Amino acid sequence: MISQKSVQEILDTAKVEEVIEDFVSLKRRGANLIGLCPFHHEKTPSFTVSPSKNLYKCFGCGKAGNAVRFIMDHESMSFPEALRYLAKRYNIEIEETQTSKEHQEERRYLDSLFIVNDYAKAYYQKQLFETDTGKSVGLHYFKERGFREETIQSFGLGYAPAKKDAFTLQATQDGHSLELLKKLGLTSKYGRDFFRGRVMFTLFNLSGKVVGFAGRIMQKDVKAPKYINSPETEVYLKSKFLYGAYQARKSIRRLDECILVEGYTDVISLHQAGIENVVASSGTSLTVDQIGLIKRYTPNVKILYDGDAAGVKAALRGLDLVLEQDLNVRVVLLPQGEDPDSYLQQVGTEAFQEYIEAQARDFIFFKTDLLMEEAAGDPIKKTKLIKDIVSSIARIPDPIKRSLYVKECSVVMKVEESILVDETNRTVTELLRRRHKRRQRGEARNVDQREPALKAVAPEPAEGQGEDDAAPRPSSPAKGLELQEREIVRVLISHAGKMFDAEEGLTVEAYVLSNIEEVIDEFHHEHYRQLVRYCLERTLAQEPLSTQYFVNHRDPNISRLAIDLLQSPYEYSPNWIGLHNLPLQNQLDPEQNFKKDSINVVFMYKIKKADQMMLHNQAEIRQAQDAGDHEQIMRLLRVQQKLSQLRNELAAKFKAVVLK
Ligand code: GTP
Ligand code: MN
Repeated sequence: MISQKSVQEILDTAKVEEVIEDFVSLKRRGANLIGLCPFHHEKTPSFTVSPSKNLYKCFGCGKAGNAVRFIMDHESMSFPEALRYLAKRYNIEIEETQTSKEHQEERRYLDSLFIVNDYAKAYYQKQLFETDTGKSVGLHYFKERGFREETIQSFGLGYAPAKKDAFTLQATQDGHSLELLKKLGLTSKYGRDFFRGRVMFTLFNLSGKVVGFAGRIMQKDVKAPKYINSPETEVYLKSKFLYGAYQARKSIRRLDECILVEGYTDVISLHQAGIENVVASSGTSLTVDQIGLIKRYTPNVKILYDGDAAGVKAALRGLDLVLEQDLNVRVVLLPQGEDPDSYLQQVGTEAFQEYIEAQARDFIFFKTDLLMEEAAGDPIKKTKLIKDIVSSIARIPDPIKRSLYVKECSVVMKVEESILVDETNRTVTELLRRRHKRRQRGEARNVDQREPALKAVAPEPAEGQGEDDAAPRPSSPAKGLELQEREIVRVLISHAGKMFDAEEGLTVEAYVLSNIEEVIDEFHHEHYRQLVRYCLERTLAQEPLSTQYFVNHRDPNISRLAIDLLQSPYEYSPNWIGLHNLPLQNQLDPEQNFKKDSINVVFMYKIKKADQMMLHNQAEIRQAQDAGDHEQIMRLLRVQQKLSQLRNELAAKFKAVVLK
């Protein structure tokens, strides 16, 4: 870990205006510098950098922070990654804190894996660019496929010569251990080169380190597999890997969408054409971990399928998993016989983009159409189809979204809505029951400590918004939640780092944040919102948090807030409890009972938030009544019902766990 001293030195040295000017052009205005905000689209500059405060703030979108924050946001880096970036920029030597011997050894071992992989990457690149065969065979192949030299460089493409052990000999001669070479799968157990006569694709992790390789054969019609890959190692877990994620992450965050393709070459080809938010699952079906990776950057996924319908249907089944993770999935089927790379090269970037925009269909509707076509006029097939669709819909965690799908699908499939509703409810119950059983049997790895989710009550999109519109964002009636927001922040600051559930390894911050993660951006109070976001990012980056961390924070906003909140008398609003017919409790000192304190603020926030949403929804109902819009009234009433149900659930649980 980076020592506190180094952190401080980096923070003291980094000048926010210098760091930002590497990315944004700034003009002086008075004491400040201004420029076009890199975080949102704008024509007139509202992005302001204050050298004296060493902070930046955009008055358009509200993004603000110090140099580290800027790098984290702009470069999609974790906190330590941003610190290392700045250390490099300012030539600061980082001092690592003393960690346990075991930990150090583990680190050294992982570093050595990266070093050898890095060596191999350089070797294959050198072969590609500097040897006759490399140039005439490998480079020729890539150029033939339309890859430009800068693309070939930036994706770390290379060439492995068709020799028995040229690489292994060179590598050992250059001092790399045979053991590591074998471990990384670069050398076979008989001492031969694993990759021979193939063009090479470097596999990078999210911080740009080399975790492995894929080698593609160049001849057609040979028996050998088209691609061979490095084996799994501590640094390359296939189920957690997405090809191109390193190159795509900034663009994914900026465009708030991730395009998913099947092949390495598709990623490279699209990227080269300026479509940079692309990753590949490398031909296998998506895993939960890969979905989690995407979810860190965006909830919106567009999947491009090669144009052969047979493969698509199989792939669709795997997608139910994605629905469970609550991503908004759209699907594009490419023309028969094409993959993203070939189609793009055939029609050009503009036509390609037009095509995928026009063809992108909501996953459920896409699946319904596809299966309907097949079941036309066959009642038995149709029954099966209904079950199939229902089982997809039932996996969507958000009940409102679910009911929207049920309604639409009933129209498309020409089935009574009520039949679909019943069928869906049955399936949902069945799924929940199974999940519960699994959990009881202790199979679930991570016990979900989350209270009923607030996200479940996001109102449906307004009528007239097509399925192609961006995902519905819950409207934000957050005003008046400031006390609850403050309490969340107080708990984070005063209890961060303590163990909420030692057995599960769950810290207080992980508990609190996992409960409010989806609604953090709706925090009304800007400082609270920033602080909570910050905590979330640190937690995701597995960086520890502590009270001292906040108090000593370089950002004066944060340290002041921390000091204020630590001093403020701890309060449950009696008013609040009275309002909700909950019996007054004996207040315990939160320091002595931080767990209850944490649970408390989460519930307080959620219940209050549900109340606010109900009020807001009621106002909408009145409006709809005035307008005589019956459809809308019905829809809003359903929302109201869900909200009230959720609120009751929360209140009941609250009584049960906190006030007992
Ligand atoms: P090109 O044919 O060169 O355009 O490559 P592609 O990436 O389009 O290949 P394809 O569409 O056939 O396969 C998609 C992805 O599946 C590839 O990028 C690989 O990740 C994976 N894949 C394909 N063939 C093999 C194979 O034989 N072995 C392994 N391990 N993976 C493969
Ligand atoms: Mn291809």
